[in-house]
Amino acid sequence: MKETVREASAEWDAKLYDAKHDFVWKYGSNVVSLLDPRAGERILDLGCGTGHLTSQIAESGAHVTGVDRSAEMVAAARLAYPNLKFEISDATKLTYREEFDAVFSNATLHWIHEPELVLQSVWKALRAGGRFVAEFGGKKNIRAMQDAFDRALVELGAAKPGEVQPWYYPSVSEYSTLAEKNGFEVRLITLFDRPTGLADGAAGMRNWIVMFGADYLAKAGEARREEFLRKVDEMLRPKLFRDGQWWADYRRLRLVAYK
Ligand code: BEZ
Repeated sequence: MKETVREASAEWDAKLYDAKHDFVWKYGSNVVSLLDPRAGERILDLGCGTGHLTSQIAESGAHVTGVDRSAEMVAAARLAYPNLKFEISDATKLTYREEFDAVFSNATLHWIHEPELVLQSVWKALRAGGRFVAEFGGKKNIRAMQDAFDRALVELGAAKPGEVQPWYYPSVSEYSTLAEKNGFEVRLITLFDRPTGLADGAAGMRNWIVMFGADYLAKAGEARREEFLRKVDEMLRPKLFRDGQWWADYRRLRLVAYK
């Protein structure tokens, strides 16, 4: 991904995130169960956002550090959980060395187009025998949504097909190969559909795009923004709007790998 796009993605609206997108960390509770944190363990929460899962992990008695590359998210996390430790850090450039029993990550790694740098960073941060437990968007995640975003931009004459690619969604074989190549023993990796109900009724898809689809909105431009949102709504409504609610076509890749 181009540096400019990555920088844009680091600027998060923490209030909108918490107000309308709490499903991100609520679903993440299942990943905390998979992590199975124990009292006294040292755990890194990679891409901690506003810190809700960091706090859940801390309830086990583990010593958790939450990191996020967004200063706004880290500020919101510190405000919400002043007793926990949060730092601004880029997942591809972690400076921790063999400091953690586990690295945990929920709904973050699909934002990073340099997966090997992440795996190498995580490897260095873990002690020998430590575990990496992660969930993020996997192959064909939000396929219907992304197809509609793409088609709408093309119809508006704002982009070529496939020009905007904000996310990285690997397959099981691709990611397990990368993890193994970088030294990990992959003990679990799975890809599954997880349709995700969006908050706020008919406004749900629009909220989602405003929160996460900045690259598409930027490509549409201010003048064509409403037209873009209207087209996307029209294309997706027959597929993803049911009983007054939008359902995002999420697919998750879930991983447990050991150093
Ligand atoms: C996801 O959790 O799958 C996701 C979130 C934001 C943008 C793209 C994907």
